[in-house]
Amino acid sequence: MRRSFWMMIWLSALVLHLGAQTPSPATGKPATGLVWDALTKEATAKAGETDIPFTFAVTNHAASRITIERVDTSCGCTIADIPSEPWPLEPGEGGLLKVEFDARGKSGTLTKTIYVFTSTGQTELTIKVHLPEVPPSTTRDNSERVTNLMLASKNRQAVFQGKCITCHVTPTIGKMGKELYTTACGICHDAEHRASMVKDLKTLTYGTTKVHWEHWTRNGKPMSLMPAFEQKQGGPLTEAQIKSLVEYLSTSKEFPSNVTIPATPTAKP
Ligand code: HEC
Ligand code: HEC
Repeated sequence: MRRSFWMMIWLSALVLHLGAQTPSPATGKPATGLVWDALTKEATAKAGETDIPFTFAVTNHAASRITIERVDTSCGCTIADIPSEPWPLEPGEGGLLKVEFDARGKSGTLTKTIYVFTSTGQTELTIKVHLPEVPPSTTRDNSERVTNLMLASKNRQAVFQGKCITCHVTPTIGKMGKELYTTACGICHDAEHRASMVKDLKTLTYGTTKVHWEHWTRNGKPMSLMPAFEQKQGGPLTEAQIKSLVEYLSTSKEFPSNVTIPATPTAKP
């Protein structure tokens, strides 16, 4: 309580401070002259989709140049991008404002605002995203989770069997690269309520070479809850899937790359 109170004070101070620095119409005077294809856009995300793109088309209908000075958003999860900053639009000229919403860890219907500061005033654009209802994790009760954990601690490959398949295997079928990561690995490693031994792979400080990713993907770790994903060991992934996953993990900027390889476990299920 106390902490959030001070956080509010701090945030308001920050907002005032930033507001004071804004050279453009911080007063919120509505912009004139620019015509948008829509002020609100809506999208429904598919399960597992993490980056939801939107584009807003704008045209200058005024008789003189209007400059879009900058854009800002109401959330760190929303990125708005214009071709240049500032972005001058001559009469009749137009272009696209691109927005990307990061849906990771979110659910339900969310509304975010994009603030457009122009030489004639300010415009607010809105995106509305419908996300698949709460990932299974948060809806499963604890007893079920504990049962799963017990099963997995007796046999780490149990996660690919019986009714575990619905969540841990089916969503990975036919997926490659990033989508495969989200469905096969992210289900445990990116889960908000994951068990403490399940690390955030994006913040590992070592051992993220191709060899490392391939080893962990194929073999997991005996005597732990990390399963082996290769089919030879009872895992669900095809060779092509393993290849595409290793390629993604070792080249994506979201993961640390090419630090020293740690001692990895031997390949016994
Ligand atoms: C069923 C949950 C689960 C899934 C699914 C899963 N992991 Fe893991 N992973 C774990 C656990 C638990 C550990 C910790 C093992 C231990 O005790 O050291 C782990 C550890 C790891 C580590 C070692 C991290 C470290 O400590 O340095 C890597 C790398 C890894 N997993 C990669 C993956 C990849 C790649 C995938 C997808 C192909 C994946 N995991 C899917 C549960 C999971
Ligand atoms: C309804 C979907 C669903 C089913 C069915 C399911 N899991 Fe999971 N599992 C998850 C999710 C989501 C997580 C990530 C942690 C969390 O949010 O609880 C997870 C995490 C795990 C972990 C990592 C440890 C942890 O709790 O963070 C293990 C091990 C695991 N599951 C094993 C199993 C086993 C074994 C079965 C079958 C007996 C199973 N799961 C069935 C969704 C499911």
